[in-house]
Amino acid sequence: MATEKWVFMVTAQTPTNIAVIKYWGKRDEVRILPVNDSISVTLDPDHLCTVTTVAVSPAFDRDRMWLNGKEISLSGSRYQNCLREIRSRAGDVEDMEKGIKIRKKDWEKLNLHIASHNNFPTAAGLASSAAGFACLVFSLAKLMNVDEDPSHLSAIARQGSGSACRSLFGGFVKWTMGSKEDGSDSVAVQLADEKHWDDLVIIIAVVSSRQKETSSTSGMRESVETSLLLQHRAKEVVPKRILQMEEAIKNRDFASFTQLTCTDSNQFHAVCLDTSPPIFYMNDTSHRIISLVEKWNRSEGTPQVAYTFDAGPNAVLIARNRKVAVQLLQGLLYYFPPKSDTDMKSYVVGDNSILKEAGLDGASGVENLQPPPEIKDNIGSQDQKGEVSYFICTRPGKGPIVLHDQTQALLDPETGLPK
Ligand code: DP6
Repeated sequence: MATEKWVFMVTAQTPTNIAVIKYWGKRDEVRILPVNDSISVTLDPDHLCTVTTVAVSPAFDRDRMWLNGKEISLSGSRYQNCLREIRSRAGDVEDMEKGIKIRKKDWEKLNLHIASHNNFPTAAGLASSAAGFACLVFSLAKLMNVDEDPSHLSAIARQGSGSACRSLFGGFVKWTMGSKEDGSDSVAVQLADEKHWDDLVIIIAVVSSRQKETSSTSGMRESVETSLLLQHRAKEVVPKRILQMEEAIKNRDFASFTQLTCTDSNQFHAVCLDTSPPIFYMNDTSHRIISLVEKWNRSEGTPQVAYTFDAGPNAVLIARNRKVAVQLLQGLLYYFPPKSDTDMKSYVVGDNSILKEAGLDGASGVENLQPPPEIKDNIGSQDQKGEVSYFICTRPGKGPIVLHDQTQALLDPETGLPK
């Protein structure tokens, strides 16, 4: 087989996800086992996703990986754990057309080439590791004909990055912490698919930040070591919230969904403050966005928008429907206008058809914008140019898929090297 020159490859696309009940803290650092369950919404991969091509060939002399065009090392334990786990589950593969036959036992000796690309800037701080590890595991499972359901695959992706396990499904997803020492029951399950609650519109404010944030991995380690609030949260608070959130999602109860999402995000950031030394992920802009949403929700009487923040200053805002999302975007653009040299189509990306409904796709600019009276004059003056880098409009989306169109492959089918 070693003299043969064939390259066999698979390309897949995997979404990213945003937690509405947060994962923060591990009980096992190596296996990546959490101290509490978490729940997330999968984001539409049309707007935020990772595409990965994995290839195998007898001509490859070692495992190699390229991330966004740059070669990176696979020697880290997280990559090694994922590769070992997936290889041990590989099956027989046969491609009659190309005359390729790989036996189960051959996979231990064959080397892999992996190329991965995010359709959003890595620097934006948008949980790229979640989509990345999920896509690595999903595409390798397809390449190696691994006969396991997505929940079993989620337990492998989890060993790359905890939040990655939730990206194996679309819609609404729960990561059950499990109780076994080997982590085999710490898996993701789908609560509802993306069509279940398709009124929701998600607007992400990518907030400009000057400082380099503490990574989730080290931040949560410090919280586990020093925060008493984390222990109380994991033991007393989250178990009840998980049940309430499951009910809220099942019943499409936006009021309850919002109350739980916002409180949980705030408690996660309170745990960060309770960590020694304290960790600050949100900044003044994040706080101003919270005030805007809180005041608007209060003045409406019923919640219109939920907010949640991960390990950085970016705001993820979930509007109850399209009409509310249009008003929200108008308010956001009023308070956080683009710099004068930025055009609207590059300031609002993703599903920017919403700009038309907000009356902002034509010649008229933000100068003429009047936000809904309920949120006007509530959060200070309109002088915040440049605080937000850009907005991404999206919605709940589907899980991983194989991309059959060869033009989307990131590796050359002849050489197995990046195109
Ligand atoms: C704040 O999954 O990035 O986004 O497991 O160490 O790789 P590791 O951490 P990671 O942590 C995500 C934390 C969070 C909350 C969440 O996604 O649930």
